[in-house]
Amino acid sequence: MKVLVIGKGGREHALVWKLAQSPRVKKVFCAPGNAGTAEDGINVPIEPHKIDDLVRFAKKEAIGLTVVGPEDPLALGVVDAFQKEGLRIFGPSREASQLESSKVFSKQLMRNADVPTAEFRVFDHPEPARNYVQTREYPVVVKADGLAAGKGVIVCSNKEDAIAAINRIMVREEFGQAAGRYIVIEKRLEGAELSILALVAGRSIVPLQPTQDHKAALDNDEGPNTGGMGAYCPAPLGTPELLATIDESVLVPTVHAMKRSRKPFRGVLYAGVMVTNQGPRVLEFNCRFGDPETQPLLMRLKTDLLHLLEAVVDDRLDEFPPERLEWDTRPAICVVMASEGYPGKYTKGRVIGGLDDAKQVPNVKVFHAGTKVENHMVVTDGGRVLGVTALGDTLSAAKRAAYQAVEKIHFQGAHYRRDIGDKAWRRS
Ligand code: AMP
Ligand code: GLY
Repeated sequence: MKVLVIGKGGREHALVWKLAQSPRVKKVFCAPGNAGTAEDGINVPIEPHKIDDLVRFAKKEAIGLTVVGPEDPLALGVVDAFQKEGLRIFGPSREASQLESSKVFSKQLMRNADVPTAEFRVFDHPEPARNYVQTREYPVVVKADGLAAGKGVIVCSNKEDAIAAINRIMVREEFGQAAGRYIVIEKRLEGAELSILALVAGRSIVPLQPTQDHKAALDNDEGPNTGGMGAYCPAPLGTPELLATIDESVLVPTVHAMKRSRKPFRGVLYAGVMVTNQGPRVLEFNCRFGDPETQPLLMRLKTDLLHLLEAVVDDRLDEFPPERLEWDTRPAICVVMASEGYPGKYTKGRVIGGLDDAKQVPNVKVFHAGTKVENHMVVTDGGRVLGVTALGDTLSAAKRAAYQAVEKIHFQGAHYRRDIGDKAWRRS
């Protein structure tokens, strides 16, 4: 079978790499891909929002399964467009992907389905929102309704910050007009974050192993928020008891509520959970694999990913009870190497050296994110550049291997956190 992966980040490289290992997969295409997906698959120069071009390519190549990486094409209806043409595609419909693309939709669904989340109010006008924040206890979080590449969430420690956030989102429309039409204002939750990804088809839910992301740019969770500077799997914070609670109080009611509201969810449901003293609370839902969570997750998955994704697409996920999934018992860690300046402004086109040396480190896979080939050299082409991922007999062995490989790679201005995985030790 020929497979197409849509996207160009580290998550997509991990998907391409894993799918290429399936004995039933003949070719893996990636649109548009990066320098890493070009090694493990074949890049196709089509951007993820060019839905008609993607459909045309899938038809021409007789693609047997398309897998959507990022959220934007889902929100644009890529799944609906493929299905209309009778093409098999993994991911939720445009309507179902509102769980991620509209915070108002997802918060209201959680309220109606009794899913634990931070207390919140929705506003469609700046004036009442400004009045509301006068009366709140701080900190609060102000969120733009729509997709904003993770930047539309602003934590505010006082009234002035909250009013400034409301103005940025609704008046100055810094995240776009549509994304800022509504805002959600909620209580800031305290605790440790956990990423729970589950395969979902209709009413069947197969949770994958728990992972933990590192959102802050700098060590000790300092500095601005990023898309994620590293992840590890499994996360010991996700004890069997906690996972059972999340299954029961979050995944099942959410999936059932989606079905009841005629937006049955099919794809990966990603619950970003804050583990508070009062129990787990949902911070957000995503409708796709997490980045960088997918890199250590797929490094450990032994089951054929193609079989799993096909079971979702064909609505026979009940053939895969969670105990049928096979995992490498070894933990995995992914360390993201980022461009100078990321998550702010950064320059592209810096030559990356040492990739071949890094490959020699045992149990390591270097997933590419923002990279491309220029004049026969691999150069930086995004904020998050590489996700150096390693397996180890213990988490500390995995960490050692990952950083050993990181140290062999160099590009001007590279920065990375040195404490990926340390939260797991603080736990255990
Ligand atoms: P969201 O896009 O809603 O997931 O928010 C992105 C990130 O902001 C989350 O992963 C958290 O790190 C942080 N965040 C969002 N909502 C809250 C909240 N209510 N309390 C604390 N942190 C939050
Ligand atoms: N790592 C966070 C995300 O994928 O949204």
